[in-house]
Amino acid sequence: MLEDTSFAIHPGQNLATEHALYQDVGSITSIQRRNGGVTFTCERAYVHLQFYRSDIIRVVMDRAGLPELNSTPAVVAHPEEVDFTVEETEDRVQITSDRLVASVEKKSFRLSVFTPDGQELVGEGNRGIGFKETGEVICFKKMEPEDRFYGFGEKSGFLDKRGESLTMWNTDVYAPHNPETDPLYQSIPYFMALRNGRAYGIYFDNPSKTTFDLKTEKETYSFKGESGKLDYYVLAGAEPKDVIEQYTHITGRMPMPPKWAIGYHQSRYSYESEEEVRALAKTFKEKEIPLDVIYLDIHYMNEYRVFTFDQDRFPNPKKLVEDLKEDGIRIVPIVDPGVKKDPEYDTYKNGVWNDHFCKYLEGDLYFGDVWPGVSAFPDFTDGRTRRWWGNLHQFYTDLGIEGIWNDMNEPAVFNETKTMDTDVIHKHDGDPKTHRQLHNLYGLLMGKATYEGLERNLDGKRPFLLTRAGFAGVQRYASVWTGDNRSFWEHLQMSLPMCMNLGLSGVAFTGPDVGGFAHDTNGELLTRWTQVGAFTPYFRNHSAIGTLYQEPWQFGEEYETIIKRYIQLRYEWLPQLYSLFYEAHTSGLPIMRPLMLEYPSDPKTYGLYDQFMIGDNTLVAPIMQPEVTDRAVYLPGGEWVDYFGGTVYEGGTTHLVHAELDTLPLFVKRGTVIAKRPSGKRAKEEQQELELHAYAHTKGNYETIVYDDDGETTKYRRGEAMKLGISIECQEDQVAISIKNELEWSLPYKKCSFVLHGLEDHQKVRINGEVQSGVWTEQGLKVDVTTES
Ligand code: GLC
Repeated sequence: MLEDTSFAIHPGQNLATEHALYQDVGSITSIQRRNGGVTFTCERAYVHLQFYRSDIIRVVMDRAGLPELNSTPAVVAHPEEVDFTVEETEDRVQITSDRLVASVEKKSFRLSVFTPDGQELVGEGNRGIGFKETGEVICFKKMEPEDRFYGFGEKSGFLDKRGESLTMWNTDVYAPHNPETDPLYQSIPYFMALRNGRAYGIYFDNPSKTTFDLKTEKETYSFKGESGKLDYYVLAGAEPKDVIEQYTHITGRMPMPPKWAIGYHQSRYSYESEEEVRALAKTFKEKEIPLDVIYLDIHYMNEYRVFTFDQDRFPNPKKLVEDLKEDGIRIVPIVDPGVKKDPEYDTYKNGVWNDHFCKYLEGDLYFGDVWPGVSAFPDFTDGRTRRWWGNLHQFYTDLGIEGIWNDMNEPAVFNETKTMDTDVIHKHDGDPKTHRQLHNLYGLLMGKATYEGLERNLDGKRPFLLTRAGFAGVQRYASVWTGDNRSFWEHLQMSLPMCMNLGLSGVAFTGPDVGGFAHDTNGELLTRWTQVGAFTPYFRNHSAIGTLYQEPWQFGEEYETIIKRYIQLRYEWLPQLYSLFYEAHTSGLPIMRPLMLEYPSDPKTYGLYDQFMIGDNTLVAPIMQPEVTDRAVYLPGGEWVDYFGGTVYEGGTTHLVHAELDTLPLFVKRGTVIAKRPSGKRAKEEQQELELHAYAHTKGNYETIVYDDDGETTKYRRGEAMKLGISIECQEDQVAISIKNELEWSLPYKKCSFVLHGLEDHQKVRINGEVQSGVWTEQGLKVDVTTES
């Protein structure tokens, strides 16, 4: 405990930089083309450069011999054949593809990467690649004064991480979540650097404890691993969006979520009985507050045994699931990895009998304390165990359950180190390694086991998985919530840059516990937080045992009315959000975006953390302080329409905006389109109307895709989907829209129409070439369209 006292800054502490303790790989003695790449033999190590695509190059160092080119399970890409040339001069080796130039200094191995037109992306540092005899590896790179750093997965603090040192070691942090609290639950050893509008990325494929140091030295940053390989990918950008595309090419993209998973979710640690859950569902129904999911936290189980129900509290789970589904509400139960030690409990007995649990090298089982008391932990690094665990989920799917919540999967253990002993050995599909070497993979692989198990059991339906812990690539299996936050305004503020950086790190489906988990929320905080939640990709209200209940109606009618309005707004915006989920699925781009992603050449956006964009045309600038009803909003280039009030604002500057408690400052860019439903009421898809809202302008072109499918099955993978390609061309005298269904799937709507906002008197509206008369409504000119291609 001494480190929690002033002893931490005792003058006797050794503050000397440890960077000097690393040995450099030394000068290059020979080079050789190998496996579609180039191997450098250096004085003290081998370094291999391998193209994955012409814009992605992998760098692997090994001291012992030619580097093995195996990867962690985060990596799903395989190297493509790339045309490249190798040129050697006296001092350097230059490797050139059509998208990048990698230049290596021979005197001592230093790598820099340039765009084909000679602009520096990654600069070499005053040191290169190093290692210690004890197994640590490090890489240094140049840092220019104007460089900004984003990504790093789930980190508290502001958006730009320059000046920080960030560690990746999945950790259960109940408290505190401060700006300096690091590490948290997820480890994504990846970042994007931005220099004057040009970006590159680095993904460090190492699942041990890794650290990114952007603070110790002025002109150099470093990333290091406590064990394992120095194995990293340079993603050559050069736009920030390109970097995300490249990163998610390497680590994968999210599947389409079931539509119900992007609605509103209600949770509590815990709704403790069937009656309580039924009463909750009934209240939502009576109050006409749309709801898609109710969570069952740990109390549903028989003494916290996973894959069981407590017979007294939940006597008939199947009927409960069935009845709620009638009302369109899904049940999502929590599943933790700790399996209670009890020889008469099947999961434990079979797990031990069939050798599924983590062990020490010598053969003893590892036991740790979690909710059920002494527990064993499945070894998810073993494919056989993943399959076993996945199949166990038939217990839930047989009850009609389609979604699972994975928690405590760092893994969290109630002890001093907060996790499993680092000398536990993992089978790792035949390549055994210690927990120290693989710690950060545990949550990812639990997610993989669970997602794939659900998929096998759901017979063509899409599963939903929520996870607390993860590693690079987690987006392929799960949605991520940001763990145990508190009902503090500061935590509402902090959730924005956290989710935005997760989004920049390939994890599009994220959100915090709305209202705050621990501590007591209040009506105003819950209202403001729900306004934000309506636009975060994952939208769940969750609170801890012993805190005030925080369902939408708990703080009186005034708050309830506004909260209900924003939950409905979420449902009105579902077509737009779903289309953005499709973009995340196809290109990796996040739904919730920092402004710098859309406006990388505008320095005003580089540090902006308290506003965000939804897609490329909607800007959310929430109020996140008590009793505040005005705030400064930076609107980037273009003109912006206040969504609720209709006022048009000039972009490229900051405005003072007024927003009473019932108003979320929300802006749509002129000259663009958003897809909505006219009503936030829950209704079957075929009864819905699709409304395409065009915000008219007098100049500019815009293109977008409105995507839809059955929202439930995996048929979309075979092209059973709707892709409306929409383009809008605004001129002084007309707004010309073209709309085309790019796939042969019949539209699932009762009706489809355009609503034109802010049309000038003299502007005509053309749709697919035809002048339209339409009907004037309060919002603007409404024109019904048929969308047959
Ligand atoms: C952890 C989770 C929290 C959950 C609780 C009980 O603290 O982060 O969301 O409610 O465990 O399962």
